[in-house]
Amino acid sequence: MYGNDFEQPGAATLLDEVEAAEQALRAAAERRVAAARAGGTGDTGGAEAELQEYFDAVVAADQKIEPRDWMPEAYRKTLVRQIAQHAHSEIIGMQPEGNWISRAPSLKRKAILLAKVQDEAGHGLYLYAAAETLGIDREELVGLLLTGRQKYSSIFNYPTLTWADVGAIGWLVDGAAIVNQVPLCRCSYGPYARAMIRICKEESFHQRQGYEILYTLAHGTPEQKAMAQDAVDRWWYPSLAMFGPPDTASTHSEQSMAWKIKRFSNDDLRQRFVDMCVPQAEVLGLSIPDPDLRWNDERGAYDYTQPDYDELFRVIRGDGPCNRQRMAHRRRADADGAWVREAAAAYAAKRSARPAEAAARPAEAAA
Ligand code: 3HC
Repeated sequence: MYGNDFEQPGAATLLDEVEAAEQALRAAAERRVAAARAGGTGDTGGAEAELQEYFDAVVAADQKIEPRDWMPEAYRKTLVRQIAQHAHSEIIGMQPEGNWISRAPSLKRKAILLAKVQDEAGHGLYLYAAAETLGIDREELVGLLLTGRQKYSSIFNYPTLTWADVGAIGWLVDGAAIVNQVPLCRCSYGPYARAMIRICKEESFHQRQGYEILYTLAHGTPEQKAMAQDAVDRWWYPSLAMFGPPDTASTHSEQSMAWKIKRFSNDDLRQRFVDMCVPQAEVLGLSIPDPDLRWNDERGAYDYTQPDYDELFRVIRGDGPCNRQRMAHRRRADADGAWVREAAAAYAAKRSARPAEAAARPAEAAA
């Protein structure tokens, strides 16, 4: 863990896992070369059964599928769906915290929050770029978001009512995101796995800045502590719901886990998150709003109250507290930025025409 100011149980382990995933990625690339030399490449030009066999072998050996490799169409579609939803979440996720940039309590807090929100934009861009390697372009994906045909995470449809919400988002929302995303560093699709390594390293700073805001408030005046507790009370269950429906209602988990896109089920990750948060809440001096939260010796994990999954499905369908506001804002920003995209495209077209013009000139002169 890069220098920590105070104890934050469990957080270092996650970064160690990112490090290990990065090393595994390099090792997989080396094994891949060995496999290609031995005669097996993804591009056999062979029959579909042969290609499928090679794909299955690569996944089973924990190597990476790369953009030029053959892949089953359903694998490609699943990745496009998940990576795009993830990218959209990063972009829409800038809104709840962006709301506090102008009201952050000090210049230092403002600068940190500004950098964090910019990081989220960067994450969106890495992820759109990873999705583009699957043969779909960013403009199309953004169109699918703006017309409501692709989703973004439920969590960003909740309001940020006080400054403490910025802390709670960092601790709980970014914390849940990291628990969910560290295993994605080992995803079977190379470009997604590589993007996730960088994202997780940055997310760990985000999580710690939120934790530090809450720590400061929780050790401040009674009013500040009450504000921190109120934010944790409101963000706890939506953060648990972020992990998705329970395993029994998760439509994609089984297949995604077989393909090693997802490495753990929604419920397993949710449990890991709860187990990580309990000791962290103790250090903060804040309580988790669940009267039934208790250690279960037999399971070696905390028993806890499940989030309201009817509420999760309602929010996913577009009926959360802020869905309409978030989408309206995104559409407005897209329309406001149209001239920038047009200008950038015209400039790029002009630049790419230049070498052709230059190459044509000597020929013209000779004629
Ligand atoms: N919000 C919105 N939709 C959700 C959801 C949530 N929290 N959880 C599940 N869903 C949707 C799924 O997309 C799926 O819908 P679809 O079939 O129409 O696409 C349906 O509910 C059923 O869920 P499944 O469990 O079958 O879906 P998945 O196997 O895709 O699992 C997931 C859901 C765990 C969110 C998985 O897609 C995943 O790990 N995605 C990558 C991470 C991600 O997108 N995180 C979003 C937050 S990003 C973020 O937090 C930014 C940070 O800066 C804070």
